Amino acid sequence: MKAQVLVTKRIYPEAVDLLRQHAEVDYVDSDDGLPAEELARRVRGKQAIVSQLTDRFDAAAIDSLEGVRSISNVAVGFDNIDVAAATRKGILVTNTPDVLTDTTADFAWTLLMAAARRVVEGHRYVHSGQWRAWYIDLLVGHDVHHRTMGIFGMGRIGQAVAKRAGGFSMRILYHDAVRAPEALEKSLNLEFVSAEELLRQSDFISLHVPLLPETRHMIGAEQLRMMKASAILVNTSRGPVVDEAALAEALERKTIAGAGLDVFEQEPKVQPLLLKLENVVLAPHIASASIDTRRKMSVMAAENALAALAGRRPPNLLNPS
Ligand code: DGY
Repeated sequence: MKAQVLVTKRIYPEAVDLLRQHAEVDYVDSDDGLPAEELARRVRGKQAIVSQLTDRFDAAAIDSLEGVRSISNVAVGFDNIDVAAATRKGILVTNTPDVLTDTTADFAWTLLMAAARRVVEGHRYVHSGQWRAWYIDLLVGHDVHHRTMGIFGMGRIGQAVAKRAGGFSMRILYHDAVRAPEALEKSLNLEFVSAEELLRQSDFISLHVPLLPETRHMIGAEQLRMMKASAILVNTSRGPVVDEAALAEALERKTIAGAGLDVFEQEPKVQPLLLKLENVVLAPHIASASIDTRRKMSVMAAENALAALAGRRPPNLLNPS
């Protein structure tokens, strides 16, 4: 008998085809996401789940699973899954690292440049027919080249962002719970500093930390006060890493110059004040959203699920060994 797989939300068709070659697939071909009760119902009798970051597998949801061998998240982040609870229950959990590293780093830079050089304001200005003449300080913004970049989190994506900063001849500061190996610091020209030094010295700050109890609201009112008045904050990690209300207030008062945000505390809701401000560029959680990358993420999650079903160690296993 073929194994039963639940795919909780629409993914790229190649990944569904791949799963169907080896398993019976209950495919939720929609972008809505299943309400918790419906998810609990659909998961019955399944041995594998291909999930997305909008599906919540907390300890209670995990405990209620029967016969499920794996949960394969179509994302590198996995704060929607209680991995410790899954491990206790003998459920393998996987994610989709590497394939989205460069795409996400490109987008962190897209937000940084858009906020620094006021691209969205410029677009609106031209589009609405307000542009009448060239003049000397029309939409002047902030230089990026030769400035100081501060990166929180020197994992795969943090490193890819740092690599790009080298191309802009920037000084690169970073902070992480664990210092990077010396060889990496040398090759990327990185300076390890305290969180406070990073906040005080950087012209641009980009966040690349996972959402953990210790990173929740790691950028709050106090940290925003430490930043330069000319600083620009970029967040492509997870919304709750930043206290969104405190950020909106700092942007409104112009105690920092700008922000580029791809992630929010309660997606798809956005702090209402942020929606009124000109000095923030907002995107709907699309940092990894290139056609190639989203396709690769889908296929990778399917491969992880199939490996678990075949009794093999999935390539992107998150449970501690
Ligand atoms: C992730 O992979 O964690 C992103 O947030 C979505 O690509």
